Amino acid sequence: MNRRDFYRFGTLALGGLVSLALAVPGVAYILDPILKKKGREGDYQELTSLSRLQVGVPEVFPIIEERQDAWVKYPPEPVGAVWLIRQPAGSTEEVLALSAECPHLGCAVNLSSDRKSFFCPCHTSSFKFNGNPINQIPPRAMDSLKVDVTKDSDPKVRVKFERFRPQIKEKKPLV
Ligand code: FES
Repeated sequence: MNRRDFYRFGTLALGGLVSLALAVPGVAYILDPILKKKGREGDYQELTSLSRLQVGVPEVFPIIEERQDAWVKYPPEPVGAVWLIRQPAGSTEEVLALSAECPHLGCAVNLSSDRKSFFCPCHTSSFKFNGNPINQIPPRAMDSLKVDVTKDSDPKVRVKFERFRPQIKEKKPLV
C-alpha cells in the first residue's frame, strides 16, 4: 500500500467512524419513545383500597393514563373504566375486575336501573355481576382483567387494564 492509498483508506475509515458516532444517538432518539411505550404496557394501576369495596357491590373506577405518542407526552386523562366487585370470603379471587367496555361494540357498560345486573344502553346487552351475558346480544362475557391485591395492612387493589377486540366470541387483546 502506497502513501496515497493509505491516506485514502484512512480518510474513509475516519469518515465511517464519524458517521457511526452521529448515527447512534440519532437511532436511539428515534427508538426511545417506541421502546419506552413497550415498557409501559401491562402496568398495574392502583384503583382503590380493598376495605372500600363492599362484597358483591360493583363499583366503577376510571383508568387514568398518561399518553405518549412518538414524541409528545400528553397530560393524564381517562382512557377507560373498570368495574370492581369484591368477592365473598373463600372465593378463589378476592376481587373481580371487569372492563366497562362492552364486548358488543365498545360502549360503556353501566348498572341496570334495578342495580342487579350490568346493562349497556347502546344495544341493550345485559350481564350478570360475574360478567356472563344474560341475553344474546353480546358476543361474549364482559372482559375480565388481571387483579393484584397487595399484602400490606391496608391492601390496595391494582388492575392491569387491557382492551379487547369487540364483536368476536374470543377474548383477544386489541393491539
Ligand atoms: S355496544 Fe353494548 S350493546 Fe352494543
